[in-house]
Amino acid sequence: MNSPISWVGGKKALREEVVQHFPFHYENYIEVFGGGGWVLFYKQKRRDFEVYNDANGLLVNLYRCIQSRRKVKRLKKLLQYSLNSREEFNRMRLALQLHLPMSDVRRAAYFYQVIRYSYSSGLMSFASQPHDIRSDFPLIDQATARLAEVVIENADFQKLIRHYDRKASLFYCDPPYHNSEKFYHNIGGFTERDHIRLRDTLLSIEGKFLLSYNDDAFIRNLYRHEKVHMIELKRLHNMRQRFEGGAEFPELLIANYDLNDPSRLLMGQTTLFQPNGGLLIP
Ligand SMILES: C[S@@+](CC[C@H](N)C(=O)[O-])C[C@H]1O[C@@H](n2cnc3c(N)ncnc32)[C@H](O)[C@@H]1O
Repeated sequence: MNSPISWVGGKKALREEVVQHFPFHYENYIEVFGGGGWVLFYKQKRRDFEVYNDANGLLVNLYRCIQSRRKVKRLKKLLQYSLNSREEFNRMRLALQLHLPMSDVRRAAYFYQVIRYSYSSGLMSFASQPHDIRSDFPLIDQATARLAEVVIENADFQKLIRHYDRKASLFYCDPPYHNSEKFYHNIGGFTERDHIRLRDTLLSIEGKFLLSYNDDAFIRNLYRHEKVHMIELKRLHNMRQRFEGGAEFPELLIANYDLNDPSRLLMGQTTLFQPNGGLLIP
């Protein structure tokens, strides 16, 4: 299913590739930099224990309200009467920025509208696009059902990874891309030191990690390590596409397990095409 929100850096276009490169075996799935949760919502619910995390408290509050069957009803009631106007957008944005006192459901409703009505979901400026927010309700309802058994956390990545680190844990990490950190708000900033802190944390875990990043020299150098595997991905560049047909955006998948291991892919195909997980021998 789709995420109920679009989010800067959201992995809508890459989610299939990401899930295809999961290791065959894991019992705990932890999405460390949750954002819109495009990979979590796309991934099949298996018997694994799932965690969504993000450092952005407004985003986590929104997901906690969507998760609660009681709160989501009030959330939709508030959204039903929303006004898609510049004045309302600026008023809600300011109220969130100033931390004005309000209930968690109202805060979630404001934040949802600021995401929905902002230009490119960037939260900064009003998009001036006609949209009936009630048409979003079916997807919000699906998200409520999908999140029912997901643990939602609001922590810095390092604390979270240490807390959930086990041999059978898979950490999917989609941090702010290098040199795009300024597009993320309400997280107290993300700097090169945080990229290094993330690398040091991931290289010391017992579990497995899969990391998506932009392909640049800084990131390649950071993860040049004997325990680390890296593959290149290319997808169409949304912004440059308009001026330069076919422009691509190079990205990396980085992991502490073999991303090209044919037995891993074969195992994945076996379960895809043979629901009983049967042998490939006819
Ligand atoms: C590239 S976005 C994730 C997009 C997500 N994968 C999706 O599909 O929508 C990066 C996310 O990391 C979060 N973040 C930034 N600093 C963080 C930190 N120190 N710990 C945890 N999350 C953080 C941001 O709030 C942002 O939502």
